[in-house]
Amino acid sequence: MNKAWRSRNHPAYWAFIVHRLSGLLLVLFLPFHFWALGRALHGAAAMDGFLRWTDQPLVKFAELGLVVLLGAHFTGGVRLLMLEFLDWREWQKALLAVATVVTVAIGIVFLVHVA
Ligand code: HEM
Repeated sequence: MNKAWRSRNHPAYWAFIVHRLSGLLLVLFLPFHFWALGRALHGAAAMDGFLRWTDQPLVKFAELGLVVLLGAHFTGGVRLLMLEFLDWREWQKALLAVATVVTVAIGIVFLVHVA
């Protein structure tokens, strides 16, 4: 294991990777989201047809991934804002764990709601 890798293999570094990846994946999802909303411009039948398509298990599974990505990006983003704008306090070290727990909870709530 080289020195650069050892200094990076740290929870805060992985939090940075998760934040960047989730942010980029959410950006990639946006055009699809706008396209989906645009179905309504083609009438109620087109929108209903699309909404029926989203009932498939695989689409629901992809939605879970999306919700977890947004949860991870949101909680990670709030953590970063708290680190950047609040005076440093020891409890801020726990924010990474709090963000992880809240993200998992968001995923579970979505699963329970969809199941
Ligand atoms: C839900 C509320 C959100 C919060 C609280 C939030 C917070 C943040 C923060 C604080 C940063 C700066 C990270 C840093 O200082 O390095 C950031 C970066 C970013 N956000 Fe968000 N964000 C949110 C939603 C979104 C959404 C919906 C998208 C995409 C559609 C998005 C895409 C990005 C991207 C691409 C970056 C740059 C990532 C990087 O350079 O590492 N964010 N976000």
